[in-house]
Amino acid sequence: MTIHIGAKAGDIAPTVLMPGDPYRAKWAAETFLDDARLVNEVRGMLGFTGTWRGNPVTIQGSGMGMPSLSIYANELIKDYDAQTLIRIGSCGGMQEKVGIRDVILAMTATSMNTPSSGFFKEMNFAPSADYGLLSAAHSAATAKGVPTHVGGIYSSDVFYDERPDLTDQLIRHGILGVEMEAAELYNLAHRYQRRALAVLTVSDHLITHEALPSSERESSFGDMVEIALEAAFAP
Ligand code: HPA
Repeated sequence: MTIHIGAKAGDIAPTVLMPGDPYRAKWAAETFLDDARLVNEVRGMLGFTGTWRGNPVTIQGSGMGMPSLSIYANELIKDYDAQTLIRIGSCGGMQEKVGIRDVILAMTATSMNTPSSGFFKEMNFAPSADYGLLSAAHSAATAKGVPTHVGGIYSSDVFYDERPDLTDQLIRHGILGVEMEAAELYNLAHRYQRRALAVLTVSDHLITHEALPSSERESSFGDMVEIALEAAFAP
């Protein structure tokens, strides 16, 4: 048990999928895992452990934003020895070529600030995905026929951003999408030599202002869970 995770030692698998929404963790565990059981409900941040094709997997909510994700990722890594951490979440599209429902595999995560900024001091560390996971996820997504983009994303501290100039610069620099967690997940994975990746579904679009209808959110989310699981256990 840790301050924020009630699971017993051994109840967390070496491979952890991390959706922001705890109810998505429940849905994904019930839909994709065999023998899923609840291992955490502290603060309602649900976590489940089961198996996928015989491999142990935990699906643990991270909450929204890097400070929340940092709490769970730190405890998963340092107290439960998680080795592979894959964020599964939604993002806002930032390029014309990126469509609603498309999948983005975040090769890098730019940010203004992360919970690690004080630690890095004057250094601009470049948070990046584990290449093996990224490559395996790309193969899995391509095999499924899901339109997929690989590149840089932006991890923001604000959902209701009031800096259109900043958005313009990010778009100009080819950033594919915006979300709020990946950069710190990547920082922590590098610090503790773990594997990390963010697999994101485009749920809304900053240029076209389209949004995924709520009726379709579940099926699009399912593709992402399968891509993450296939990447985690790729040979
Ligand atoms: N901004 C930040 N995070 C997000 C967005 C967004 O537009 N869409 C989904 N997560």
